[in-house]
Amino acid sequence: MINIRDERVTDVAAREALLDAAYGACRFTKASARLREGRLPAKGLALVAVERGQIVGTIRLWHVTAGPGCPALLLGPLAVHPDCRNRGIGSALVSRALTRARLGGYRAVLLVGDAAYYGRFGFTAEPTGELWMPGRFERDRLLALELQPQALAGVRGMIGATGQIEPKPDLNLLIAAAGDAPHTRVQRAA
Ligand SMILES: CC(C)(COP(=O)(O)OP(=O)(O)OC[C@H]1O[C@@H](n2cnc3c(N)ncnc32)[C@H](O)[C@@H]1OP(=O)(O)O)[C@@H](O)C(=O)NCCC(=O)NCCS
Repeated sequence: MINIRDERVTDVAAREALLDAAYGACRFTKASARLREGRLPAKGLALVAVERGQIVGTIRLWHVTAGPGCPALLLGPLAVHPDCRNRGIGSALVSRALTRARLGGYRAVLLVGDAAYYGRFGFTAEPTGELWMPGRFERDRLLALELQPQALAGVRGMIGATGQIEPKPDLNLLIAAAGDAPHTRVQRAA
């Protein structure tokens, strides 16, 4: 049975392995990666699909601005483990995330992806004709779904990252903590 739940800190390694398998290293070179790097995903919009204790699917949404003054979400990456595809897991992840986004009062969701897949959820390239990604992108793959009527009417400009900055661990505190570790004390005594 598939369970869709919020992503936890302990899911990160499995999620990254899943994304490597689905997209390879080129995932870090995509323009959408520029909108995610160093940011936290939108609260309540980082989900995983779990089957028999294993992470088999992942989806995250991010705060962006669709041109100046138009808050929106960016969906992606979405991935399902190659052994688990065509069982509705991807659709379940997208549907759950969109339901949460609607309940959260968000106005629109953008993504870069295949219209042949995302069209089933209502995404089209129509509202994004005057928007640009911060890097190379294929215009017919820049898609949007308005969660509220006319949410993207008249938008024009660069899509920008607006999510909360990901906190970085304090190196000094890490070094100090390592100095307190028992194995360090043994080494010093020796
Ligand atoms: C895209 C992906 C998330 C779909 O996950 P999934 O759990 O297999 O999806 P679902 O079971 O909900 O849907 C399967 C349907 O989507 C179709 N589909 C899958 N990827 C597709 C794509 N890139 N374009 C068009 N249709 C696609 C399947 O053919 C199937 O069609 P059917 O319902 O008519 O049989 C998964 O294939 C994946 O992780 N792919 C690797 C990343 C990738 O290639 N992304 C490209 C999309 S931007």
